[in-house]
Amino acid sequence: MNEQIERSLVLVKPDGYRRGLSGEVLRRIEAKGYTLVALAVTTPTAEQLATHYAEHEGKPFYEPLVEFMSSGPVTAVVIEGHGCIAGFRALAGATDPTAALPGTIRGDLGRDWGLKVQQNIVHGSDSPESSAREIAIWFPELG
Ligand code: TYD
Ligand code: MG
Repeated sequence: MNEQIERSLVLVKPDGYRRGLSGEVLRRIEAKGYTLVALAVTTPTAEQLATHYAEHEGKPFYEPLVEFMSSGPVTAVVIEGHGCIAGFRALAGATDPTAALPGTIRGDLGRDWGLKVQQNIVHGSDSPESSAREIAIWFPELG
């Protein structure tokens, strides 16, 4: 009930960008009442992805994930609002679009036709520490 004003780093991943879903993701963020603080379209570098996904290095899905994430532009966004870190993850839904509930970004827009879990449209920071670390990767000027 008393969440702090936070910032979160959101990425519309290459699948979402290619499908023209950046606007729909931004619409949901703004409809929720979060503010857009920074916005950029950029193709991630290997260095950015290695830092961004450092926690997953060595896991079986890491290499395909990094390859997919470098396959084209992403829309990178810093959002701000009360409790927006957990709040955006609630908007995004479960990691696996097949399991994500209707009403969520992944549940409404994820395609269930055998795509890999990595193609789940959006990324959102999972903690205040992740948010600070990730914002510095994608928007060093905000640091
Ligand atoms: P993770 O941080 O666990 O999920 P989230 O994006 O919901 O915070 O994983 C990072 C990304 O890695 C996830 O969005 C999709 C991909 N991934 C897989 O491809 N396979 C998996 O089994 C998991 C857990 C994640
Ligand atoms: Mg994560």
